Amino acid sequence: MKVLDFTVRSNEQLNYQNNLIKVTPADNGTLPEMSPGQFVQILVNNSDNVFLRRPISINLVDKEKNEMWLLVQRVGEGTRKICETPARETLNIIFPLGNSFSIPQEEGKFLLVGGGVGAAPMLFLGKKLREKGFSPDFLLGGRSQRDILQLSDFEALGTVYCTTEDGSLGEKGFVTHHSVLQKSRYDFIYTCGPKPMMVAVAKYAHSNKTGCEVSLENLMACGFGACLCCIEKTTRGNLCSCTDGPVFNINELTWID
Ligand code: FES
Repeated sequence: MKVLDFTVRSNEQLNYQNNLIKVTPADNGTLPEMSPGQFVQILVNNSDNVFLRRPISINLVDKEKNEMWLLVQRVGEGTRKICETPARETLNIIFPLGNSFSIPQEEGKFLLVGGGVGAAPMLFLGKKLREKGFSPDFLLGGRSQRDILQLSDFEALGTVYCTTEDGSLGEKGFVTHHSVLQKSRYDFIYTCGPKPMMVAVAKYAHSNKTGCEVSLENLMACGFGACLCCIEKTTRGNLCSCTDGPVFNINELTWID
């Protein structure tokens, strides 16, 4: 875990509530090894009201450009201030935090399910799977077309299926209603997004005897196991999703009766 100043290389507003911020170490040092599922804590600059850092999952690491991508959803003053950071400004970041998705060693059929901004770590995971020679499928869901982010980046890594609640892109409905889940059999499923969506994906995986990992988006404050606000009930007792997670195998969770 490091605390480092990063220079914002670019900050692009992707839709009505999400910015893609690309950062590189301000001291020009090389980024350390990071894994999909891990997250960072960003210090909020220029705010008299926001004292806690904001947890943001790692969207991608581009080693060639020595760049980390962060997909930030504007949900309050802290994230809004972060999204207002222009190129060439500095962001102070604690990273990398938390555990990561398991990377399979053998070829198989892998499905990565992301809901809204929860799809962010799926891009990094898809890239890692691609680098291992696998060809993942992605299933992305949102309320409408404008909630499906980075579509061309996902399409460069594998086959992409979409669902939207209003039917404006892909099949109409929720991700767990998508016809690909009836037609295909997967060896492993990874998911991140709103909890009801992840619970539905976990139940689908469980009923199909498919392994599944979820990345929890529990409320976080400290990010390193001190405040206990991110507790998740598991088969191993109450665990911190910031240090024991955010990634859990569904067999460890108590979501499935
Ligand atoms: Fe403080 Fe997890 S966020 S213990």
